[in-house]
Amino acid sequence: MAMIFDMFRASAFVFVLLFVAAISLEVQGRDDESLLRLVASASSSALTVGGEETRINNRAFESRKSSDDSCGPQISIETPACDVVGKGNGYELRKYPDAQIWVETLVENSTYNLATSIGFVRCFLFISGGNSKNMEIEMTGPVHITPVLSEAGYKTGFFVPSRFKSVNDLPTPRDPKIKFNVHKEAVMAVIGPFGGFPGDFDYEAEFSQLKKYLDKDGLKYDESSAVFAGYSSPFEIRNRQQEVHVKIVS
Ligand SMILES: *[C@@H]1O[C@H](CO)[C@@H](O)[C@H](O)[C@H]1NC(C)=O
Repeated sequence: MAMIFDMFRASAFVFVLLFVAAISLEVQGRDDESLLRLVASASSSALTVGGEETRINNRAFESRKSSDDSCGPQISIETPACDVVGKGNGYELRKYPDAQIWVETLVENSTYNLATSIGFVRCFLFISGGNSKNMEIEMTGPVHITPVLSEAGYKTGFFVPSRFKSVNDLPTPRDPKIKFNVHKEAVMAVIGPFGGFPGDFDYEAEFSQLKKYLDKDGLKYDESSAVFAGYSSPFEIRNRQQEVHVKIVS
């Protein structure tokens, strides 16, 4: 019974995302034709995807339990390994090790809502089999949103599960707008977790607060590296968890 509910929830989650993305594209009159085609084909198979996702997530959960090397909010799916290396007034410092792989996509000239809907769907389709091996890859958390001022848009990123040791282990994305990005070791200052359903203004407000804390302590950061990290799916109503990260520079 619980499993059926989980499957229903996961499917509903996919449907809502695809619906939001489709509506956004319609309203804004964007001509992202290949994405629309993918949305249409993925909608019809979303139920299967939802079921698969549930099964895969359970496996991911078990593997995370055995190698408990992450930090930050603990959720039911794998999160990137990290170490807490310091605490400040209102923030935490986390070191993320070298060579963590992320699937990322940039949506240029776009509003936050549109860019994040399109970005999520592109990444989600890649892990749902939209790749050269039709390989399904388990969902991880958090979802990263990075404002990219120079492109007037936002980058969306999914962490690649740690069982993939190199980019060469990953299948080629069908969507050329999906990129693999191997992150270098970084110390990130983190504010949060905070709850609710934050939009861009809420994230920006948290980021401003974080910058004030870091300025006060004389820590330097790369302003363009801000990340809005969402650990909760839209279907979680209570105990929602979001953070803002920024890279510390020396
Ligand atoms: C974004 O806007 C710039 C400036 O108007 C334009 O040169 C560029 O082609 C646009 N990019 C996309 C992907 O629409």
